[in-house]
Amino acid sequence: MKSNIIEFEKFKIETDNKVFSPRIDIEIFVQAIQGIIRKDSKILELGTGTGAISIALAKNYKDISILATDINKFAIKIAKKNSEINKVDKIIDFKESNWFSNIKDNKYDFIITNPPYIPKENSSIFSKLSDPKDSLYANKNGLADIYTIIENSLNYLNNNSYLLIEHAHYQTLILKEYAKKFGFSHIKSQKDDLGFNRISIFLNRF
Ligand SMILES: C[S@@+](CC[C@H](N)C(=O)[O-])C[C@H]1O[C@@H](n2cnc3c(N)ncnc32)[C@H](O)[C@@H]1O
Repeated sequence: MKSNIIEFEKFKIETDNKVFSPRIDIEIFVQAIQGIIRKDSKILELGTGTGAISIALAKNYKDISILATDINKFAIKIAKKNSEINKVDKIIDFKESNWFSNIKDNKYDFIITNPPYIPKENSSIFSKLSDPKDSLYANKNGLADIYTIIENSLNYLNNNSYLLIEHAHYQTLILKEYAKKFGFSHIKSQKDDLGFNRISIFLNRF
């Protein structure tokens, strides 16, 4: 198991070849949530990998609580370790879960996720990526996992709460329409440094 250290602006994390390596711009989630995060917000992260997004949030917003989940047991192990190294283990809990399968009846103020979204059909183009395949590729033109998340999120959100999904820029319109069918309004898209839509932010208004 090859272990690596990745350095972000405010913290470092450990990763290895059994877990998705967070890209250097994951702090885009910190920007996306700015202005809508509240004191005492309860956050559910789906597909946490090394825990980098939850750790970035915990480093920036102190009075929150996070449950970070992943289907990959190695991810949960390394994410826990990273939260301890970064002294945010009192803010983040970790749990193995196949999307919502192991989430109890709790309600959250935010669900955040960077799920697999590269179309499986395109996997040969991305063959140089060394991350585990099931962290990268999804069926249905890359949308299968995102659809599952949208379809189920309402059951786990308080009223007037948010769903933040990272995806490819060309998936923006289709996701807006899909989320509308399940009771979400699209509030805004957070762009990346190149100006491409990267995170869609949805609100449930019930
Ligand atoms: C693109 S990676 C993102 C990891 C991390 N959030 C980040 O940005 O560095 C997608 C993550 O989703 C997890 N994942 C894939 N399928 C899943 C499922 N069915 N349930 C929960 N997590 C899943 C993978 O193990 C992987 O850690």
